[in-house]
Amino acid sequence: MAHPPAPLVTEEEIRHKVAELAATIDRDYADVDSLVLVGVLKGSFVFLSDLARRLTVPNRIEFIAVSSYGDRESEEHLGSVRLLMDVRHDIADEHVLVVEDIVDTGHTIAYLQRLLTARGPASLKLCTLLHKPDRTEAEVAIDYLGFTIPDVWVVGYGLDYAERYRTLPYIGELAAEDR
Ligand code: IMP
Ligand code: MG
Repeated sequence: MAHPPAPLVTEEEIRHKVAELAATIDRDYADVDSLVLVGVLKGSFVFLSDLARRLTVPNRIEFIAVSSYGDRESEEHLGSVRLLMDVRHDIADEHVLVVEDIVDTGHTIAYLQRLLTARGPASLKLCTLLHKPDRTEAEVAIDYLGFTIPDVWVVGYGLDYAERYRTLPYIGELAAEDR
């Protein structure tokens, strides 16, 4: 039987941080008429929905989906990322903010930044709730960061382990014996 994941970031800490991030983003985009939020599926869906509802800058929601973690367990796929679902609208000349759950090795975001930059947005920035700096393989610039965490497997608040735990209200560490 699986243990409940040990809390690493509590609901209250998340709520606080999301409000703080939204206030910073609102301030930075105060002169912009429209901001396109691009949520990276599936992990960012909870964070994106909380963050977007806190923003006062007029925004549009888009989603993009990329190949998930499993693909790169094998050496030959290390660092390879595949586009599974694209955004619906053209982002040329738009201010784009990518919203991610976690930057781990950095490969996913490095790929997305290349893909989206090529489309000529007015600006492109990244907001991620979590960052595991110990695992960096591809350096990516993070414009808005929630929490830096150690190299552990975290679940909840959108993040999963084999599609489980996404709706856990806090961010917990999954015990090694439950993986
Ligand atoms: P990266 O390409 O290695 O930076 O991986 C990014 C993706 O891996 C994230 O968007 C997550 O979907 C997934 N991921 C990485 N670490 C974790 C974790 O601890 N829990 C759940 N998902 C994770
Ligand atoms: Mg993700």
